[in-house]
Amino acid sequence: MSREELVALARSAAQRAHCPYSHFHVGAALVAGGKVYTGVNIEISSYGLTLCAERSALAAAYSDGAREVTEVAVACIDAPADAPLDLRTPCGACRQWLVDLAPHAIIYIDGDARDFTIEDLLPYPFRLS
Ligand code: THU
Repeated sequence: MSREELVALARSAAQRAHCPYSHFHVGAALVAGGKVYTGVNIEISSYGLTLCAERSALAAAYSDGAREVTEVAVACIDAPADAPLDLRTPCGACRQWLVDLAPHAIIYIDGDARDFTIEDLLPYPFRLS
């Protein structure tokens, strides 16, 4: 699957986001063990317990037994076309999940042409091992 196809899957997943409070739809699509998994942000009335799209996709993959995550695409479809990276990039909590659960993945952010590593996004991360 190409980068463009994975980003397109993230964009289409974002349409299924449950975001009644922020109305900010986010989708993630990742490749792990040769399969593709998607996730969306899921908001609840206790806002702080919201689940981001990236963690949702990682949980789907790990729940299916997949472990080796090779690529992750993230799409914030409500960000304006000219919005800076800040409005599209994974939050701090998701970066820590990526460090722990997808340390070798290439990360694609819809609307930005660069390929990121988790070291790009979260230098000097906390690690137990
Ligand atoms: N959100 C994500 O899904 N991923 C991120 O990395 C950043 C933020 C969601 C959480 C919330 O539902 C909405 O975007 C606005 O913060």
